Amino acid sequence: MTDSISILSKVHMVLVLLFVISMLIKTILIFKSNESFDNYRAKTKMSEMLVTILFLVIGIILMVMKDFKFHTLFYLKLGAVVAGIPLGIIGAKKHSKVLITLSFLSFLGAYGLSEAAKKRGAQVEVATDIKTENLGKEIFTANCTVCHGADGKAGVGGASDLSVSTLSTEEAGKVIVGGRNSMPKFSYEGEQLKALTDYLESLKKK
Ligand code: HEC
Repeated sequence: MTDSISILSKVHMVLVLLFVISMLIKTILIFKSNESFDNYRAKTKMSEMLVTILFLVIGIILMVMKDFKFHTLFYLKLGAVVAGIPLGIIGAKKHSKVLITLSFLSFLGAYGLSEAAKKRGAQVEVATDIKTENLGKEIFTANCTVCHGADGKAGVGGASDLSVSTLSTEEAGKVIVGGRNSMPKFSYEGEQLKALTDYLESLKKK
């Protein structure tokens, strides 16, 4: 799922970039002459339509797949695209340098905003990673260090050395929830249990 999202995102970005480059060429040509602009437009009409439809459709599929949350950057981007299309169409009909330049700038802006949104998304992901890591550490420090020690190696009362444990996260989860001999039961589940077993994995690396 994550893989197909990243592939589709790349295809989407390439299509948008193609479209922006084509807009740039048209903007340059309209400043050169109406004729060269019309020639270019006639030649690229079909492929441009195809590119536009594809990037819009892939954009919508991506929104659904990513379980999309609407944010300000997205509205700005949508606004830029929605403004850019009629500006481009009217600009082309009237051979207006101003409208075509504005249309190009709208799409360029939308492209820039996508890049900015991508960076922001990446930051949010890192932040949640840090949060779960802290959660695992917190739970471990509060409940487990008495017997296992901060590094998992203390072995108080026969407690296993967690830094050399060969259990998978799933098996460790079962020991935590079900207990084993003098290892007490702990009623963790879901996100907390996952954070805790992930934290145990990090103890193994030391
Ligand atoms: C009262 C002391 C005590 C506390 C508190 C405790 N443990 Fe244990 N733990 C043990 C003992 C003793 C064993 C060995 C059990 C056995 O002999 O089968 C063990 C074993 C384990 C194992 C199995 C390791 C392996 O490789 O077999 C895991 C995982 C584990 N503990 C995780 C935790 C976690 C996580 C916590 C905190 C939520 C915790 N323990 C709290 C005493 C404790």
